[in-house]
Order: sequence, then C-alpha cells, then structure tokens
Amino acid sequence: MAEVAKGLEKLISNGINSKYLTEKYILPLEERPKFSSDESPSESIPIIDLSCVSDGLGRSNIIRQISKASEDYGFFQIINHGVPEDVIQSMLDVAKEFFEMPIENRAKLYSEDPKTEVRVSTSFNFNKSKVQLWRDFVRHPCHPLEDYIDSWPEKPENYREVASKYALEIRALILKLLALLSEGLGLDSGYLNEKFGKHYQTLLTNYYPSCPDPNLTLGLPGHSDPNGITVLLQDEVGGLQVLKDGKWIIVKPEKNALVVNLADQLQVISNGRFKSVEHRAITNSRTSRISIPTFYGPSLDALIGPANELVSKESPAIYRSYTFEEFFDRFFSQELKGKTVLDHFKYFAE
Ligand code: OGA
Ligand code: NI
Repeated sequence: MAEVAKGLEKLISNGINSKYLTEKYILPLEERPKFSSDESPSESIPIIDLSCVSDGLGRSNIIRQISKASEDYGFFQIINHGVPEDVIQSMLDVAKEFFEMPIENRAKLYSEDPKTEVRVSTSFNFNKSKVQLWRDFVRHPCHPLEDYIDSWPEKPENYREVASKYALEIRALILKLLALLSEGLGLDSGYLNEKFGKHYQTLLTNYYPSCPDPNLTLGLPGHSDPNGITVLLQDEVGGLQVLKDGKWIIVKPEKNALVVNLADQLQVISNGRFKSVEHRAITNSRTSRISIPTFYGPSLDALIGPANELVSKESPAIYRSYTFEEFFDRFFSQELKGKTVLDHFKYFAE
C-alpha cells in the first residue's frame, strides 16, 4: 500500500478512528494505566524560576536547584525562562491546527520508517509493536535550521515561520541549560556543549485524540528519552506522568512553563548522577491533547561516555563509550519500553 493510503487509514486523527477503541489499541492487563493504585496525586516535580540566572548569586542558586531536581526526579518545570509567550502560544496553536486540518495534508507526510527524517506517523514503531499507542505525531529535525526548513510541513501556511522561531528560541534556552548542568556537575560550563559535537535538535508534536476508554490504552508507555535533554511544551489538558519511587507523578500544566527532562545521554555522561527518568502519557475521554517535546542531543558521530572528571576509583565508569549513532539505532530498532536501551551500554552488559 502506498504510504499516503496507509496514513489515511491508520492515523487516529482521520476523523473516524478516534471514535472506536479497537482491539489493536487494547493493552494486556498488566500494561494498562491502573490509575487508582499506581498514581501519586499529591506529589509534583520542582518548579524552578530562571529569572535571576544572570546575576552571580541567583545563578549559583539556580544551578543548585537544577542539579538537585536532576538527581532526584530527572524532571523539573521552568518559569521565566526567556522564551516569549507569543512564541509559545503560536507554536501550540499551529500544532493543533496541523492535526485538525484535513487528513490529506498530513497523510502526504506519512511514513512508518523511523529513519525518515520528516514524517507524520502514529503509535511509536508501527511495525514492531503488537499493540498500537493512542497518538499521532509529526517530527522533523531543526538544526541547523537552513538544512531542514525547506523539508518541513508546508501546511498550515504559517507552520514554518512559527516552528522555526520556536526552534531557535528553544535552542538558545537549551544552550543555557547545558551550561548550568555542566557547572552543576563541577565541569567547565562549555563541557556538554562541546561533548554534543555538531548537536542535533528534533521537534516533535504529539497529538492524543480524546479516547473512548483511557483505562485500556496509553498515549505513550513508560520510557526514557534517548537523546541528551528534552524541553516539552504541553497544552492545558495534562496527561504527562513521571515515575518516582514506583508511583506516577502528574505533571500539572502551568501556563507558559516548560517541562525539562534529562535524557539517557546525560545519565551516561554524568556517570549516573543525573537521572533519565521514565515517563508516560495517559489519554482522557474529554478532549484531545497536544504536547511538543524538543529532543536535543549529540550529533550521530559524537563520542559519548562518562566524563573523565566524574570517574574515579571510588566511582568507576558505569557505561562504556560509544557513538551516539549506535545508541540511536538500537532505540529505534525496538518497541518503546522503559529504560532497556540504556542497559545495553552498561560496562558489564552481556
Ligand atoms: C515523548 C514524551 C510526553 C507527553 O514524546 O517522548 O515523553 O506528555 N511525551 O506527550
Ligand atoms: Ni519522552
């Protein structure tokens, strides 16, 4: 079947599929969300105010908060981060419009091959999964911008303009966060920037249609992100949850806040000090939800391993060195499941 036809048939946002929860979306009993017993409704992840980042005392205070959150939760929200409100709002608007425009405009970009750089798809790895996930998505690289912008979606008409502004703002923010995180590890402030080589940045928009029965399926199952650091923008609906001490913490949407999580490469480089924590997306029966993570990390040829400065006799290297490409290939060759990819790069892994 041609890719376009597959897109028309399989995207949940085709106007028909989201009305029925067919067999192929129903998870085995033990993988379902189990809301009442598994959630920790009173806990939340830290909210860190970045407004004083450029004065000396403020900066060291922020570094302390970020490091602590990265060790304890692997997740935090940031406010007063410098990304203008209108850039954030326009990105949310255009992303929603993308999934509400006629299906033909999305199906054109449909692909089930994870190696297709600019693509619309559904679930996670359609051909590797037994059960499909309740989400559609569009993803594309963003850095360097001029190499990619001409391959981005052409519709909605203002998509490229809005998404490129957003991508540049988020990149500038992430470069600041990388400096703060480097310093928090006791390294030079340029350490992570340099380690990431030529850097890569991917913009993903997840669209979770309202779901007939959120008890039986998931938008995304528990997983850690394979890149270096993720900055996620979510709308006001909510559905992101973070694993802490065996329970799922709800990440409450805060207007104009951004959610930051440390991903697998930072767990490796920090030799386990910073945590790349499992998170998931649940669905709801009221309304559709948009989330827009930016995945930022090393370029494929970058050599990744624990920072020499963080390895000692008392704290030996937990992970071996590898090129990021090796890690990435393994991530996309399997189903989305917990932190199983990271384990393959442990020093004494089989
Ligand atoms: C992801 C992710 C969470 C969300 O896309 O990797 O974790 O809230 N998304 O959509
Ligand atoms: Ni994720």
